[in-house]
Amino acid sequence: MARVEHMSDDVVLHLGDCREILPGIDPVGSVITDPPYESQAHAAKINKGVKLDFKAIDDELRAFIPAWAAENCEGWLLAFCQVEAVAAWRDAIEKAKLRYKRGLAWVKPDALPQMNGQGPATGFECLTAAWCPGGFSQWNAGGKRGVYTHNTNGPNRHGVHPTEKPVSLMVELIADFAPADSVVLDPFMGSGTTGVAAVREGRGFVGIELDVRYFEIACQRIRDELRRPRLKLSPMAKPVQAVLDLGAA
Ligand SMILES: C[S@@+](CC[C@H](N)C(=O)[O-])C[C@H]1O[C@@H](n2cnc3c(N)ncnc32)[C@H](O)[C@@H]1O
Repeated sequence: MARVEHMSDDVVLHLGDCREILPGIDPVGSVITDPPYESQAHAAKINKGVKLDFKAIDDELRAFIPAWAAENCEGWLLAFCQVEAVAAWRDAIEKAKLRYKRGLAWVKPDALPQMNGQGPATGFECLTAAWCPGGFSQWNAGGKRGVYTHNTNGPNRHGVHPTEKPVSLMVELIADFAPADSVVLDPFMGSGTTGVAAVREGRGFVGIELDVRYFEIACQRIRDELRRPRLKLSPMAKPVQAVLDLGAA
């Protein structure tokens, strides 16, 4: 059942399927999202005992996001995925006539080791970055490399969503890719981490989530973030050179 929560003038959360809701959403500055991963990744997590209660991505759902962004995104589309899925995302991005830029890495220093010792454990996940509007791409981070290092289980982890991303990671991505005062969209918002980070970075946010339990958590987390006192720095007054009046000696 669809529902909309207006958390503030520029923060709006939708409960429902993004394929039904996105056609009614106004253009946004960036799409920064963590969609479901491939079925193999889901199976691997379930084997490790993680309870995943949403379906893996399929090619139809994958194609929908760049196709919407081609018409409605004024900046970057960033989508998390496992390394094996970067090519599938690149193909979907190029099919929608967006400019695929490159894959980025989220390095996880606290990733679980491979306990049976039969091979290396996974230590990173990827994001694909695409520039939507045509012309020269631009971002806020100069010549920085696209490598983001953040623990999965930092002290501020909320801890209910099985694939929750660290707030610090989402803050860094938003600071680098979303223009000041723009609106960030996450059509797979889960427990709302992208929204918490967008509010923290002073951006507007539109979030969509299919599962009502995660939607309620996202509403609460983003409401709490909006209530946090914020340090507002006023621009420094321009220094004025004092005039030395020596008078008539
Ligand atoms: C990988 S999780 C996102 C987790 C999120 N980054 C967080 O930190 O909590 C993907 C989410 O997409 C939701 N989802 C899957 N298909 C969807 C759809 N068609 N429309 C909206 N949400 C969907 C799932 O319920 C799941 O919570």
